[in-house]
Amino acid sequence: MFYPQEVIDQVIESNNIVEVIGTYVNLTKKGSTYFGLCPFHNEKTGSFSVTDNGDRQMYYCFGCHKGGNVLTFVMQYENCSYIDALKTLADRAGISLPQPDFSREESIKAKKREAVLEVNKEAAKYFYHLLKSDRGKTAYAYLKNRGLSDETITSFGLGYSDKYRDDLYKYLKAKGFDDEVLRESGLFRIRETDAQDYFWNRVMFPIMDTRNKVIAFGGRVMGTGEPKYLNSPESICFNKRNTLYGLHVAKKNKGGELILCEGYMDVVSLHQAGFTNAVASLGTALTDGHAAILKRYTSNVVISYDSDTAGKDAALRAIPKLRAAGLSVKVVNMKPYKDPDELIKAKGADYYRECLKNAQNSLIFEIYCLAEGFHLDDPDEKTKFYNEVANKLSYFTDSMEQDNYIQAVSKEFNIDYSMLREKARRLTLGNNNIKPIVPREQMPKKTAEKSDALSMCMKMLLAYMAKEPSFYDNVSKIISESDFLLSPYDIISRILFEQLREGRLQPGNIINALEEPESQELVAEIFNYGLFDRMEESDLERTVNDCVIRIKRNSIEYQLSSETDLSRIIALKREQERLQKFNVFGRNN
Ligand code: UTP
Ligand code: MN
Repeated sequence: MFYPQEVIDQVIESNNIVEVIGTYVNLTKKGSTYFGLCPFHNEKTGSFSVTDNGDRQMYYCFGCHKGGNVLTFVMQYENCSYIDALKTLADRAGISLPQPDFSREESIKAKKREAVLEVNKEAAKYFYHLLKSDRGKTAYAYLKNRGLSDETITSFGLGYSDKYRDDLYKYLKAKGFDDEVLRESGLFRIRETDAQDYFWNRVMFPIMDTRNKVIAFGGRVMGTGEPKYLNSPESICFNKRNTLYGLHVAKKNKGGELILCEGYMDVVSLHQAGFTNAVASLGTALTDGHAAILKRYTSNVVISYDSDTAGKDAALRAIPKLRAAGLSVKVVNMKPYKDPDELIKAKGADYYRECLKNAQNSLIFEIYCLAEGFHLDDPDEKTKFYNEVANKLSYFTDSMEQDNYIQAVSKEFNIDYSMLREKARRLTLGNNNIKPIVPREQMPKKTAEKSDALSMCMKMLLAYMAKEPSFYDNVSKIISESDFLLSPYDIISRILFEQLREGRLQPGNIINALEEPESQELVAEIFNYGLFDRMEESDLERTVNDCVIRIKRNSIEYQLSSETDLSRIIALKREQERLQKFNVFGRNN
């Protein structure tokens, strides 16, 4: 961060959140809270709330769960950087910001990045020009032959890299770019004696970031050849794990669902057919970074991966990541067609729209995949399958949601509802289905999905503590901030516990301490948790108690896994036993 914290605090304090947001959104006061139509998703009734109660200055949308403080609002609304938002708000309050202490290194990096973007832009223009020239005739015919219109070619800026192996290099050298920046761009292999283009004789797909800057390229061979697609190497501008092809256009579908597919041509074809909400992670498995970015633009993702086994496996790996990011996920069935591109070419846009409409809930999809591993006409196998299904259904902390899923699954797979419900509930209440969770960095990839339930517990408990600050006395007898082993709950709990001890809740400050927008939104959600109002008192207490026990149990198991001191082990075991009868509300059970 380039500005001192006091300056940032001063800017935030000098901008009343209701006044600032009021200039963008029509707000009406209801009680102590203001409501309006959410600017981040389409809606007819106002679920967007703004609070300026003392220190609790923040906004939160009950519909799309976007939330934060006045600074994150300007960032999200104007789609600008932290620094730009800070400048806007400082101007508004008449505060003059000190010269930012950009470190030398940072400013060199920023300059380099700008220079590489400039190379990419020139290269993209040149590839496009070639495609439309005589030299690009074959490439142009290739794209036309794949059903792309001139309009599509232009809007995606598709191009052609010539068959001479230093064509682009010569062109850019003549334009005055020097070797260092050309090397940095990843578009060339520059050696002592000569230089070669990385891409030659390929159809070119420029990859854009969300500000419409060309950050990299993908190039396809025309016809057969290896590799089919070549992608720019990672560079100062391009990080594959955080890039989604097509997002610069798809993000304009504010709040609507996003279609996630595998490849360049899928995205291009889908957009051409009117599905301008399609994106693809390119040639890499979906990462947590991708999931977090998707969550920034939507709450609903429809996976439209290839119909083959590889596509199915990729979907099974993507689902828990998307879910962990808080997205609701569906899966499209495109069989017998291979991918969206092929399907649209064969059947047209309406057919695909129908497929989207019939997309399967991701949990049902997972269970279908699970079923393939069992011979269901064998009674033993069937029992095993049912147990697995019940186990899958036990990871819900919201019992209404769980029940809805049990109903849906029992109907879909023709399993007796009461039996399935009983099995699932028993597993849920037994509390034994939650394996210990270690801090995320140390977590093997496979167990990451098990953290869903635990993270839900942490969210709920923190929400309850934010709502009932006096509850801190009870909670602190059993749980401390160090028991929150998942990020970003570790940071949130540390500050929240500190604020509760000081008797002064300031969600805005917690938001400020977090860098990721998703984490900032999480804080706003924690402070605006609606579920409790809809719960019976006794249910509420049971749920909160359950959360306390799970978080503590996990923490103890984690400590036990690395403890070697016998007396500590015994103490931890005692604590574990004590937990079985523990009631954080002091009730006997
Ligand atoms: P596919 O092999 O499914 O290709 O790879 P596709 O999208 O159907 O391509 P067309 O229709 O034959 O042109 C899916 C994605 O995986 C990445 C690319 O991003 C591609 O779009 N990929 C594939 C590579 O990066 N390199 C490769 O060699 C192949
Ligand atoms: Mn294809």
